[in-house]
Amino acid sequence: MCGIVGYIGNRDGADIVLAGLKALEYRGYDSAGIALLDKKGTAHLFKQVGRVDGVEKLLLADDPGDAPAAIGHTRWATHGGPSVLNAHPHANSDESIFVVHNGIIENYAELKEWLIKEGAQFVSDTDTEVMAHLIDHYYKQSKSFEEAFTKALKEVRGAYAIVAMTTHEPGKLFAARLSSPMVIGVGKDECIVASDPSAILQHTKKVIYVQDNEMVIVEAGKCTITDLMHDKKVLRETETLDFDINQADLGDYPHFMLKEIYEAPQTIRLASLGRVNADTNTVKLGGLESVTTQLSHVDRIVIVACGTSYYAGLVGEYLLEEIAGIPVEVQLASEFKYRDEPFCRSTALLAISQSGETADTIAALKKVEDYGVLRLGIVNAVGSTIARMTDAGVYCHAGPEQAVASTKAFIAQVMVLTQIALNLAKEGHALYKPMLAEIEALPAKAEAVLKQADTIKAIAEKYKNYRDFLFIGRRYAYPVALEGALKLKEVSYIHAEGYAAGEMKHGPLAMIDENFPTFALAGDGPLLEKTISNMQEIRARKGKIVAVTTEGTKAVAQHADDAIYIPATLEQTEPILQAIVMQLFSYYVATAKGYNVDRPRNLAKSVTVE
Ligand code: G6P
Repeated sequence: MCGIVGYIGNRDGADIVLAGLKALEYRGYDSAGIALLDKKGTAHLFKQVGRVDGVEKLLLADDPGDAPAAIGHTRWATHGGPSVLNAHPHANSDESIFVVHNGIIENYAELKEWLIKEGAQFVSDTDTEVMAHLIDHYYKQSKSFEEAFTKALKEVRGAYAIVAMTTHEPGKLFAARLSSPMVIGVGKDECIVASDPSAILQHTKKVIYVQDNEMVIVEAGKCTITDLMHDKKVLRETETLDFDINQADLGDYPHFMLKEIYEAPQTIRLASLGRVNADTNTVKLGGLESVTTQLSHVDRIVIVACGTSYYAGLVGEYLLEEIAGIPVEVQLASEFKYRDEPFCRSTALLAISQSGETADTIAALKKVEDYGVLRLGIVNAVGSTIARMTDAGVYCHAGPEQAVASTKAFIAQVMVLTQIALNLAKEGHALYKPMLAEIEALPAKAEAVLKQADTIKAIAEKYKNYRDFLFIGRRYAYPVALEGALKLKEVSYIHAEGYAAGEMKHGPLAMIDENFPTFALAGDGPLLEKTISNMQEIRARKGKIVAVTTEGTKAVAQHADDAIYIPATLEQTEPILQAIVMQLFSYYVATAKGYNVDRPRNLAKSVTVE
């Protein structure tokens, strides 16, 4: 989704901002732009539909020289389609004020109407342009940019991470946030403002996280923070980013999606490292220790999440209910926010998010802010908004995930949910010991699944031209079927539906014929016979079947057109291995069709708008 990078210092800001924007490309965008102030304080603006490379070419052709101040943006269209005029930065009429913005200004229409009456000339369809004209309006009154910026912020409603740059004060950037991430890297004689730490970490690991309702004046090597709610200055120490830059490299892989799928064994290890110990029979989750007493009073958990994280939550529902004996409800964060439901203080809210910045999930956490309930998080991005706004939580430790479609994060989330379930399990639960042993065995089993990549690739080639796909599974395999369908949709644009195998006959069966294949998750578990019956129902209607089953299980292949075998594991840990198959299948279908798997059309990695 949208990305922001700003620079102030004594190096060439254009270089640093463009490199930062490229580091944010994985988030998905449709247009990009940069505004810079050269050494004389003269402004230059370059915008382009398409990639950051295009902006770089425009800049090189114009050759404005070194720029001590620059702001740049990658835009994912919300208000107005992708076009040069709608791309950021936006400027006021005389191009003395430039603004980049992530989020949505909800009252932009009324502000725009008023500003037009006041003489402002708008050139774009965006909500953001309002901000440039609004600051200009107040600047003309007070001739203080800080005052004008602050007044403008107080007028707007919605969510924003915003950075402004002005020819009136070329040595400063003005930044603010409300419900949209913003971080400032503080280097020697320079600062870099960004919406995501990955744009910063090649320059410095010393960062300041800007909080909601804060305004920051950013100068070379110095930040002055004001709390706008209480009108007072805030002193904040820098923090050190815990991020390994090498993890963001492609290495020898052709795509991040494949690299991240192949990281599954390591992801499983890292998610359980120092937590699970089969020898001592313990599961220790340091992130939950501060809330142990509160957790002991929790009698219901509501999980909120979006996308792939939501499906990990559904696997978590089965795990927590079966192993910890706690009733769980999983809700889409976007629905939870607007739902009126009774909520007791003994209910805990558990947010799951890879990025820790998803607007709907943040909104769900905010909704219960005053309820006095325990707010927990399962987050991958260390230091992200959700990680900081929850009372306690468990990090996934999957490392940066670059491909838009989530793969290794799902594995890590399910691993963490498994450990939370075990951690909350009653003494002596029959699954406790076998599961601890199985967690230790899982990385090797994940390796074994990855070794089947060629088989899965051949099957993907065979099925790549179908327009529709059904994914079915029962119990733990049901959420994996939902996630498998999502993965295929996301990267290959094939219509796919996930269904509970037993529910399939109540609707989707009507669509099955020789042109509508099914992916059946048919592991050797207690419900295998029932799943096989569902497969037979499909085949009786000429539907083709690709089955994922357990090594050594002979019963399945005779009812399928193609079979993929995964190592035997517990039903409770099988989603991890099945998910790797689903991910590889989607990857190979999408690449066989020639699509950009890492950046699927219309999608964004981190969805920071509602
Ligand atoms: C976007 C991404 C998905 C992700 C979802 C939730 O849609 O493309 O891959 O699952 O957001 O994101 P989160 O960061 O909260 O897990």
